[in-house]
Amino acid sequence: MTPPPIATRELAREERFSMVWTQELNTVFADVAPYYDRANYFASLGLWGFFLRRFMSTVEVHPGERVLDVCAGTNAIGIALLGREPTLEVHAIDRSAEMQEVGRQRAEARGFRVRSVIDDVHTLPYPDNHFDIVTLQFATRHLRVRRVFEEIHRVLKPGGRFHHSDMLRPGNRVVEVLYYAYLRFCLAFTGFVFRSGPAALNCKNYFINALKMFYSAEELSTVLRELGYRDVGYKAVFAGMLGFHRAVKP
Ligand SMILES: C[S@@+](CC[C@H](N)C(=O)[O-])C[C@H]1O[C@@H](n2cnc3c(N)ncnc32)[C@H](O)[C@@H]1O
Repeated sequence: MTPPPIATRELAREERFSMVWTQELNTVFADVAPYYDRANYFASLGLWGFFLRRFMSTVEVHPGERVLDVCAGTNAIGIALLGREPTLEVHAIDRSAEMQEVGRQRAEARGFRVRSVIDDVHTLPYPDNHFDIVTLQFATRHLRVRRVFEEIHRVLKPGGRFHHSDMLRPGNRVVEVLYYAYLRFCLAFTGFVFRSGPAALNCKNYFINALKMFYSAEELSTVLRELGYRDVGYKAVFAGMLGFHRAVKP
């Protein structure tokens, strides 16, 4: 059966999840901020660092370029990029002051400066044509995708590159069912080990449902093309459970 057009699916996602996005997620990330990085290593069986390195290997940087990391969390991307090229001007935006505070401490411990803004990313508080590179990792499931990708397109310079990494909805139905079962187990176990608070524990079903209504790698490419990006391409990892997209603003 052909899935409905992206615009219809965006409306359905928003209708189903807007309460969680606007009223619950910030409490969840405030709760998990102190153990977010450790929990990710744990839940991914140690593969978190490998995923980050694989994603970063797809991002080409040049000295002095201006980079924006959208939904930057604890600044994993900014720190990885500055480790490779310390002359970059790295900006981070995230709605969670708690996640960014952990990120600030992590960056400072490495002697790096990440310029942070605490705000919602559906309206990016930056001028048009401003960044050489924009990155977005592990957050798009919580966003109105078209709105944020439009904003990213606006703030990128012509020729600027958008690099995206996220868990995706696998194309294969068997992989999909096994994947959700594993995630359900992981969320429960991680919550238990790290003694998550009620906000994070109550969101377990949301995390699976958000993925079920999310896009496959090919569908995400369609969104990017529809918004006017060119040279859209991706690498799918682990049978499409994870994807690294790259797109250029003409
Ligand atoms: C799973 S974390 C990913 C963090 C980081 N990108 C990484 O790869 O580790 C998701 C982040 O998205 C942020 N976020 C979710 N919705 C947001 C919104 N509407 N505006 C700004 N930040 C948002 C959360 O605060 C959280 O820090």
